[in-house]
Amino acid sequence: MPHDRIRLGQLHEKIVSAEAAADLIRDGMIVGMSGFTRAGEAKAVPLALAARAKAAHALNEPLKITLITGASLGNDLDKQMAEAHLLSRRIPFQSDPALRKAINAGEVMFVDQHLSETVEHLRTHMLGPIDVAVIEAVGITANGGIIPTTSVGNSATFAILAEKVIVEINLTQPAELEGLHDIYIPTRRPFREPIPVVTPESRVGLPFIAIPPEKIAAIVVSRKLDSASNVLPPDGETAAIAGHLMQFLEHEVRRGRLTSRLQPLQAGIGTIANAVMHGFIASPFHDLTMYSEVLQDSTFDLFDAGKLNFASGSSITLSKAKHDAVMPRIADYKPRLILRPQEISNHPEIIRRLGIIGINTALEFDIYGNVNSTHVGGTQMMNGIGGSGDFARNAYLSVFVTKSIAKGGALSSVVPMVSHVDHTEHDVDILITEQGLADLRELAPRERARLIIAHCVHPLYRDALEDYVARAGARGGHTPHVIEEALSWHVRARETGAMLPGAVRASV
Ligand code: COA
Repeated sequence: MPHDRIRLGQLHEKIVSAEAAADLIRDGMIVGMSGFTRAGEAKAVPLALAARAKAAHALNEPLKITLITGASLGNDLDKQMAEAHLLSRRIPFQSDPALRKAINAGEVMFVDQHLSETVEHLRTHMLGPIDVAVIEAVGITANGGIIPTTSVGNSATFAILAEKVIVEINLTQPAELEGLHDIYIPTRRPFREPIPVVTPESRVGLPFIAIPPEKIAAIVVSRKLDSASNVLPPDGETAAIAGHLMQFLEHEVRRGRLTSRLQPLQAGIGTIANAVMHGFIASPFHDLTMYSEVLQDSTFDLFDAGKLNFASGSSITLSKAKHDAVMPRIADYKPRLILRPQEISNHPEIIRRLGIIGINTALEFDIYGNVNSTHVGGTQMMNGIGGSGDFARNAYLSVFVTKSIAKGGALSSVVPMVSHVDHTEHDVDILITEQGLADLRELAPRERARLIIAHCVHPLYRDALEDYVARAGARGGHTPHVIEEALSWHVRARETGAMLPGAVRASV
């Protein structure tokens, strides 16, 4: 019953329909919504708002908002809101094909932002103010504290800074999620105290979002499940990538640079990172910990395999089968889990302090180690940088993984020069494809190029890259390029759909 979940009795009278709550959101507002990697998003109010926007659009009446979330939303909400022409601006991450289309058409202004940074921008008024926050909750405490569900994301700061807060009590989210969260808000700069997280297990905040209850303007009851994650199971290539990583880490243990407990692990979103984490199940490593942002199926498989002791994240995003297995037993997992605000899960100070091994995915990387994780062909937004930059720049070991070819071999993921840079050569330590691993640490650009080509490139493209590097090296430079040719593979792909290696020689 919804009333059991709202322990502050005076708030019972705030329960309204999703439509009535959505009416609090007007044209031109800045709205902060819960939701991080398809978990814990407010579900009913955005849908009601999208329906209103659709009707308004048909009548040529203005209804557009700036929408800020933690990260991507589930339940097709980004799609529904994009197709209703509700979104004028979207911050800081998304992964929806329909919204992607609207972004790439220039209809929605997308601010692709490091996930740790958004709330700092809100606090310092670079962004905002937030008019309305819409937060999914398991319940409300006797003091009016909001208990988040399967993600924390930016919800706490949205609720604290917003003028009005709408709470969606989701009755399908297990009440046992209470106690999982650790809500810590850093003090204001420039006199900020160190953030007291010194291990992944550190609990430093409150298990709810503390706000004055009078800010809660409406409560909506919802019953929609989180969307199942859409990651694909591991395949031969992702298993090979995982194998290369395990071999490398074993080598690091032998050299005395790591112990067999390794250091806290972070893994990015998506099929490849999830599959790579599966590789730890059959590895010799043990008593592992995670200090990550999204906890995917692999986290729970590692718990069940007895490999993982503790996981800290900002969301839990599971496939349908894993959701059905984990959620009824969430109370058993709870002592080994924490969900934090994303500025804490992704905080540079903590990532550097803990010495994290960060594993993120590239769309493509170049012969010198620059990584593109976001833009297909240099122009078309895929998802966004997410937290990969927060981790890559500050990690003890910054690892990027990808398959060596895409689209059946029409595209090489290793190119002369990336067509867009998300992670510079200075932030990248290890590159892995199914072909092999390149350890770039302490190497100069010319040395890196030799290693990347020898170990990471698909055989289809190896000769072409060797040829490019030889000719570039002959021209000289610290980071040699045949500059007029550096993006010719992308040009060819745009014109013909394929980065034909022959195109490089033809253009010499
Ligand atoms: N050029 C063009 N497209 C490419 C490509 C390349 N070099 N390499 C892969 N792709 C395409 C794939 O073909 C696939 O397309 P499809 O969806 O049409 O099938 C898509 O990119 C996803 O690739 P996939 O191999 O399934 O990998 P993934 O699910 O692991 O996703 C990223 C890879 C890079 C898109 C994803 O990890 C991402 O968005 N990363 C950036 C954000 C991030 O790292 N966050 C981490 C913390 S949130």
